[in-house]
Amino acid sequence: MTHGSERILVTKISNQQEETIELPIIKSSLGERGVEISQLHKKFGYFSYDPAYMATASCQSDITYIDGEKGILQHRGHNIEQLAEKYSFFDVIHLLLYGNIPTNHVREQLISSMADQISAIETDYIVSIISSFVPTDHPMAMIMACLARMSAEQNEKFHSIPKEPSNVDQICMETICYLLRVIPIVGQYVTTGNTNNIALNSSVGILENFLNIMLNKTNDQNSVTSLDKLFILHVDHEQNASTSAVRSVGSTGVNLYAAVCAGVASLWGPLHGGANEAVIKMLQSIIANKEDPASYITKVKNGSTKLSGFGHRVYKNYDPRAGVIKKYCDIILSDSKSNERDMLELASVLEKTALADEYFISRKLFPNVDFYSGVIYKAIGVPEAMFPPLFAAARVVGWTTQWKEMVLSKEKINRPRQIYIGHTRPALHHPL
Ligand code: SDX
Repeated sequence: MTHGSERILVTKISNQQEETIELPIIKSSLGERGVEISQLHKKFGYFSYDPAYMATASCQSDITYIDGEKGILQHRGHNIEQLAEKYSFFDVIHLLLYGNIPTNHVREQLISSMADQISAIETDYIVSIISSFVPTDHPMAMIMACLARMSAEQNEKFHSIPKEPSNVDQICMETICYLLRVIPIVGQYVTTGNTNNIALNSSVGILENFLNIMLNKTNDQNSVTSLDKLFILHVDHEQNASTSAVRSVGSTGVNLYAAVCAGVASLWGPLHGGANEAVIKMLQSIIANKEDPASYITKVKNGSTKLSGFGHRVYKNYDPRAGVIKKYCDIILSDSKSNERDMLELASVLEKTALADEYFISRKLFPNVDFYSGVIYKAIGVPEAMFPPLFAAARVVGWTTQWKEMVLSKEKINRPRQIYIGHTRPALHHPL
């Protein structure tokens, strides 16, 4: 913890008494600095009060930096636009987990090792767990069930190995590979109602197998490129709700499969990773009802619905990921079926209308990562229920990297306090 020269003085005035304490500042390398507030409780007996943690830093991290006002997103100092433009999902996995962009040789080694780990995963019980659901059940529940089963199987091994860096890296990689194996099988079941074609083809890459198993799609480089770029754009996003869930659950010492299961549950929410699915349902409903986009915006403004895919807790300006995704939409949809093109055009009209409207301008509401991502997923044939699982397939890299940072920094169990506003009855006096 590095305290700079700057500090904050807090003065408590009560019964004409004044007492001032000094709260140290935690310096940052970029963005906001923090006020270390433990003295507030120790000296004055006060908690800080920040519902939904709107202005609370829960940890120090060197993985991802976001500047919400300037629309900046960097992973280990690399701008997201460059990462999406110049690198592959596997380069970004290496960057997050091991801290640097790999050489071509190291990247190929990583891909080969991941492919070996993915092909070694036992799938009979994955199929039996998934088959215990009906295909119309939400796939995030199926993924959570598979993670829960794995958390049971791996629990003893997890607690038997010392949490030193190399073991922690291996635990992270196993978890990433597990989801990259499970999610396409879930996708096939949701799309077709069966799991007949889950064999991996060792002559093609990891993402090619992912699409082949999920959508029975082979030799479609455009779709593989789209998936690669979308995965890069979803890989991590500092202390969002699902990452905070993974860090908080992981801080109890539970195995990583169980902590990632909590992340999947959090990401499923329509206010978080479920928003991309909600965007497509919104676009489809407007088109099906031949609704005028302007009248839909009016409905949003009078509070009867939300403009899914718009707004963000941190970005009060441009979400840089939305801009990159929109660019790939134009590339992918240049030769795509008309209904996706209709959806893209409608989404662009809604964006343009909203960005010129005082309701959205005054509330600093802009398109976020989810506003256009669903249009691309639809264009490559992904059913909307599978959009949050694809978000999870990428975000598991961020979740595991953040869990690794939490474990190696020996972060204490996360346990916030509260402001009690309930009944007041005299306490029983214990003899202690
Ligand atoms: C993700 O945190 C992350 O980093 C998340 C994420 C990641 O990569 O991990 O970026 C991924 O989850 C992106 C967000 C996806 N969710 C959506 O698109 C759902 C729609 N958006 C919202 O519900 C909302 O904008 C949130 C949840 C994203 C942010 O909510 P906040 O910060 O709590 O803001 P708020 O709900 O208090 O909104 C402030 C005002 C309110 O109006 P007033 O009460 O001031 O009149 O803006 C309005 C809101 O009603 N508002 C919207 C709106 N979002 C906010 N009005 C209409 N449509 C919207 N989408």
